[in-house]
Amino acid sequence: MTESRITQQPFGILPDAQTADLYTLVNARGAQAQITNYGGILVALRVPDNAGAFADVVLGHNVLSGYLANRAYLGALIGRYANRIAAARFVLDGVEYRLAANDGPHHLHGGARGFDKALWRATGSPGPQGPQLELRHVSANGDEGYPGTLEVAVTYTLTEESELRIDYEAHTDRTTVLNLSHHSYFNLRDGGASPILEHEIEINADRYTPIDAGLIPTGAIAAVHGTPFDFKRQRGIGARIDQNHDQLAAAGGYDHNFVLNGKPGELRLAARVSEPRTGRTMAVYTTQPGLQFYTGNFLDSSITGKDGTVYRKRHGFCLETQHFPDSPNKPHFPSTRFEPGQRYLHTTVYRFGVK
Ligand code: GLA
Repeated sequence: MTESRITQQPFGILPDAQTADLYTLVNARGAQAQITNYGGILVALRVPDNAGAFADVVLGHNVLSGYLANRAYLGALIGRYANRIAAARFVLDGVEYRLAANDGPHHLHGGARGFDKALWRATGSPGPQGPQLELRHVSANGDEGYPGTLEVAVTYTLTEESELRIDYEAHTDRTTVLNLSHHSYFNLRDGGASPILEHEIEINADRYTPIDAGLIPTGAIAAVHGTPFDFKRQRGIGARIDQNHDQLAAAGGYDHNFVLNGKPGELRLAARVSEPRTGRTMAVYTTQPGLQFYTGNFLDSSITGKDGTVYRKRHGFCLETQHFPDSPNKPHFPSTRFEPGQRYLHTTVYRFGVK
């Protein structure tokens, strides 16, 4: 047994001369999470395989400079709005808000300078469940086009049960929309050197939200039954990914929001993944209504990450817990409206094990 702890070191200097730090959280079992307050990015996550060998299971960079562009949002906190808002606009109480169009005509992951590019105020502490890092950020009224001054706190905890727990909390002083998430790319075999297609995944969803050619939900809520989107029992990620199916063609693989079974607001199973060669497993629990399952289809070898690893197509997968994409323009989706006096509270847990 090691002693659980949290340590801090400088990670690098940002273009505006501010220093970003790197925090290392270690639990008593020796699992390790490294997080920088730049973008709240999970830089590394080291967990054991079934022979007890620890390895990093997330894609990323060894140095801060690698994250300054971060077009793929590797490991980052996402806000104010995870995923897409169609035509980069929405109407709230009769007022139209215009956002940055940073994904063709659409708005993606909070815009040109989302929370993934903010320098968060960080406080590390030995928490009741394990070492934790609290990150705080204030987003000004009008930031990236969104109304309301928003105060956000995100706490990462590396629990003694080898869970990475993420607690989100926020307050606003004006009615706005809000949808926070976390964007790690996982590869439980080797952290991104090989394809993720042999990983097996179960997703606790009977339905998903089909998309159009711009990856915007059409508004339909479709049954997964009888389609390559049925992961109710564990299936290989690659087993059906190249089947002739219009939804797989639209995204070049999986890049879809699943409508999680169970009651939003309650922490419940979203997905379970296992990697056959190493025996590593990951289970995801969340209070959110949706889960974006993304198979790294846009990774195109243009990013060279940790230790010179080239991140190729489908070498990492994301499980982004969230409200559904484009909810501000889809009144029948669970609402992302957020008002003064309300407390935004969500929790997602990534739990690691072996089999
Ligand atoms: C999310 C989206 C994808 C893609 C990635 C970032 O997962 O759903 O379409 O934009 O982020 O590359």
